[in-house]
Amino acid sequence: MRKNIVAGNWKMNKNFEEADDLLFDLAESLKDLELENEEVIICPPAIYLEMSTDVGLENNFSVGAQNCSNHEVGAYTGEISAAMLKSLDVQYCIIGHSERRKYFKETHDELAEKVNLLLDNSINPIFCCGEVLEERESEKHFDIVKGQISDSLFKLNKEELLNVVIAYEPVWAIGTGKTATSDQAQEMHAFIRGLLSEKYGEDIANEISILYGGSCNAKNAKELFSQKDVDGGLIGGAALKAEDFLAIIQSF
Ligand code: PGA
Repeated sequence: MRKNIVAGNWKMNKNFEEADDLLFDLAESLKDLELENEEVIICPPAIYLEMSTDVGLENNFSVGAQNCSNHEVGAYTGEISAAMLKSLDVQYCIIGHSERRKYFKETHDELAEKVNLLLDNSINPIFCCGEVLEERESEKHFDIVKGQISDSLFKLNKEELLNVVIAYEPVWAIGTGKTATSDQAQEMHAFIRGLLSEKYGEDIANEISILYGGSCNAKNAKELFSQKDVDGGLIGGAALKAEDFLAIIQSF
């Protein structure tokens, strides 16, 4: 049975002391939580990964990076490799977030390379997809998401795909306070599961967790997570306070 997941993407927020405080607050909130089929993932800035994995191991949460290099090793100043993440016991890595696609011009091929390197290092990619507003308004959103998924993921075999989490994040909903309705989310999630089913078969498609991201918060999480194909959320702003994040986790 596929897992329900809440992943917090801190993006480029928090100095060292603030990150330390937030990890402490999260540990306090999460350590006694009864998680059955749920997994909590914290994705802090890379500089805090080591201290996060140390806290996470003892307190019921997994740790993810926000990005990794599409190169294996070598002269790529400022980059962080999948192997380095593995050496810190990082279990997940966000790939293809819309901010990286937009500001760092990441291509479908580069994202496919990153996914491969992560899988080679036994790290689960959290692969992001989603359309911008004009694409939705011109009714191209299904084609856009289909292209993102097929171009970056469809060379994987079944066993590899089973280690991937998909996050549907309509770009117009990220950081805007404008959430997709639960019907819009369910419609796209069902479409994505359908794509996976066509390519890999229904049994595999039903094992893949598909998260919703984009202004998901303690108020709307319950309604979103109650949708058949919505298996949790990738949370930005509301992951920056332990109390808000905990309320989202308790929305399943
Ligand atoms: P948001 O960000 O929750 O602040 O909209 C979500 C994300 O970018 O993953």
